[in-house]
Formats: sequence, C-alpha cells, structure tokens
Amino acid sequence: MGVIVAERKTVRYAHVAGWGKYVPTKVVTNEDLSKSVETSDEWIVSRTGIRERRIAASPKETTATMSFEAARQALQVAGVAPNDLGLIIVATATPEYSFPATACVVQDMLGAENAGAFDLSAGCSGFMYALAMGAQAIASGAQSHVLVIGAETLSRIVNWHDRETCVLFGDGAGAVVLQGSDEPGGVLSTLLRADGSGGELLIVPAGGSHQPPTLDTVATGQHYVRMNGREVFRFATRVMDEATRKVVADAGLTLEDVDLFIPHQANLRIIQAAVRALKMPMDKFFVNLDRYGNTSAASIPIALCEAVDAGRIKPGDHLVMVGFGAGLTWAASVIQWGVPKPPVPAWRRTLDGLRYVAAGVRSRARRLRRRLGAVLFGSPEPRTIDEGAHRPERVTEGKLHADAAPRTTDEGMPRTEPESLAAPPVEEPRAE
Ligand code: ACO
Repeated sequence: MGVIVAERKTVRYAHVAGWGKYVPTKVVTNEDLSKSVETSDEWIVSRTGIRERRIAASPKETTATMSFEAARQALQVAGVAPNDLGLIIVATATPEYSFPATACVVQDMLGAENAGAFDLSAGCSGFMYALAMGAQAIASGAQSHVLVIGAETLSRIVNWHDRETCVLFGDGAGAVVLQGSDEPGGVLSTLLRADGSGGELLIVPAGGSHQPPTLDTVATGQHYVRMNGREVFRFATRVMDEATRKVVADAGLTLEDVDLFIPHQANLRIIQAAVRALKMPMDKFFVNLDRYGNTSAASIPIALCEAVDAGRIKPGDHLVMVGFGAGLTWAASVIQWGVPKPPVPAWRRTLDGLRYVAAGVRSRARRLRRRLGAVLFGSPEPRTIDEGAHRPERVTEGKLHADAAPRTTDEGMPRTEPESLAAPPVEEPRAE
C-alpha cells in the first residue's frame, strides 16, 4: 500500500497587506504635565523631543478596543475578512487582563472564527517580535493571513507623580495584516535579541507571581513603571546600531539600500545617536514621537501607518524597523514594501461595519448558549472526580491542598464592545 503524504502549500513571502492605527483623542501637552509635576516643556523637549502624548481618557479606550480599531482598519486596507485570519498576535505590556489574552478579546470583537490568538510580551520590542512570529508562520506555510498588533495603555501603569517616567509615555495601537504570497518581497529578515540580566532597569515590580498584589504593594506604588533612564538610554543607543547593521546584512542589503528607517519612538536623542552611528542622513529616519511620546509596542506600527499616509513609503522601498525595550529586549526587521492599495470603497466600509455588529451578536449568543447549557444540564459529566485522577492543587499558608478546581464563569468578563470607543479614530490634520 502506498504512503499518502499530505501536501502542504508552502508560501514563502509575508507581505504587509494592510495597516491601521488608533490613538486616543485626548492630548496631554508638556505644559499640562508641568501643572502636576515639577517639569517644563523646555526640559521635556530638550531631553526627549516629546511635545505631547495621547492618553486613553475614556474607560472605553482600553488595549483591546484600541487594538480592534487599528485591526479593523488594517483588515479593510488589506481587503481581508476576519474569517481569513489564521492567527492574531497582540504585543503589549498593558494587556486587558492577565488572562484571557487581549488577542482573544480582539478575536471575539472581530469575529475571526478561524484564528488562533495570543499575547506577546517583549516590552517596546513587542511589535517587532510579533511581526517576526507572524512572518515565520507564513514562511513555514502554516498560515496565510496573520494579524499583528502592538497596543498599549501605558497611562494606566504610569505613576503620574513620577516626573522621570510620566513625561515619556503615551497610549495607542497599530496593526498590520501579513499576507502570504509567492511574490518576492515583504519581510526579508528579522532579528530578535534579549538580555534578561537587565530586567530590573525597566520593570513593574508587583502584580505578578513574584510579588502578588497586596495592600502594601499598592501603597508603595509597586504596580507602576520603574525605570533607570540613564541605563536604558545607554543600552538603547548601543543596540539600535548593531541590530540595524545585522538585519540589513541578513537581508542581503547595505545601509545605502534602505529607503526609510522606522525606529522605536522613545527619545529623539536615542534616534539621533543611531543616525550618527549608522552615518545615515536624519531625513531617512521617521519620527513622530513629538506627538505621541513613547507608546511602547504600539510606537513602530503607528509610525509605519503615518509614514505610509505621509507618502514616505513607495512600492519596492526597503524599510528597516528597529525597537528596544523592557526585558531587556531588542529586535529589528527589513521589509520590502508591496504594491499600493486602491482606496476602500464606501460599500466595503458599510459591509465591515455590519460584519462587526454580527460578530457582537454571535458572541452574545454563544455566552447565552453557555449559560443556558449550565442551567439546563448542570455540571458536565463525570460529576465526581476519580480517586486516582490528578486533582488541581493550591497552596494555602504553606500547605498543599487537593481542592476542587476554582469555579469559572463568563459572567465575570463582560464582552468588550467594538462600538464602544468614544470617538472615531479620525485624526484632524495637524497644524505645524
Ligand atoms: N523634568 C525635569 N527634570 C527632570 C525630569 C523631568 N521630567 N525627569 C528627570 N529630571 C531631572 C532628574 O531628576 C535629574 O536631576 P538631578 O540632576 O538633580 O538628579 C536631571 O533631570 C537629569 O536626569 P537624567 O536622568 O540625567 O536625564 P537624562 O538626560 O538621562 O534624560 C531620560 C532622562 C529622558 C529618561 C533618558 O534617560 C531616557 O530617555 N532614557 C531612556 C528611556 C526609555 O527610552 N525608556 C523606554 C524604553 S522602552 C520600553 O520598553 C517601555
């Protein structure tokens, strides 16, 4: 009998087919901050280049809702339906919950019925890590469409009384749709690195298993970002240059072949140091941190969207994206940009709007079905646990107890409403 080998279609190139962003409407200027902490516009601009940032002022603006807004735009630009997605990755340091993953909340909001979904934690390098994962899933032939999101609500973990950190950060989300193609181009090379020995340089000390939340951890502000700015600065200036050179060489290119650099938007002085080290002209570096501050994992995809909108990226261009952040982590990627997308027709926008309303109805119907099932049929069989079977264990006051599994209920987690954002993500053109 012959052996039947399942044929797997191998798609080699992961192209950026769609892109989108969301930034909160609330603008907080340096002047605003100088009213609550001892700082000044002069200090912030001269040390960082930041002039203002967007803050998720509405409770409806969360990492998941901002991700959703960025994702729906990216899908629309790509002309890809949520059901075509095989994978959704949300890179974030400020997830909606410890679990479930923000990516699962986004999957539900999109109604992406065929997608796996997970979060990725790599600090400000998160989007670059997620892009590499998505591109590799496509290159392996395992996926043909991957949604990669970088999203943060850092304003909710920043100590607004700490002038050394609160002036730096902002909120927002950016997304890309990666699409598999036989056409050469797309993500040409990626580089991922980490140095965990520098973990304490940029950390939220409490809230995890190392230091669970207590009244004391809250009272001593250990759920806020702590940062050794000088050390992070030193690390960042070193790795930006090295990572860029390596990833460009890995793509078979030289620095002169690169049309645009999109660095992580943390500090203009860090970007200028990279410019000097790489001996490239400043106008090849895209900068928008003056308007958004450091949005961590969202910074590179937001900058990418703005670079496209500003006409800075043409088909065939080579881009380098490079990020660094908590971990410590750093990562870079070379992308060859694909063809421009035709404008999205109005009917398509209407169809997409209806699609997400339908996703909401389906999600509610599933919750209701689960609840009804629980009421009508009670506990799932078997009702008792076999003596010999493994039982979940928990630790209480140093003792191990075999105990019943904790009850779970989906009543504890309300559905995040896609239509819940206060204002549409439309930005007014900025007067210079
Ligand atoms: N306003 C006024 N004065 C300030 C402020 C402020 N907002 N913040 C600090 N200062 C003071 C300091 O207290 C210090 O005072 P002192 O000399 O009396 O002690 C003085 O200004 C100089 O402080 P430095 O730390 O030397 O300032 P520096 O020039 O290094 O700039 C900064 C500080 C902007 C934080 C810089 O070190 C930096 O950008 N580091 C990298 C940070 C970063 O990128 N973090 C994100 C990483 S990505 C991620 O994963 C989140």
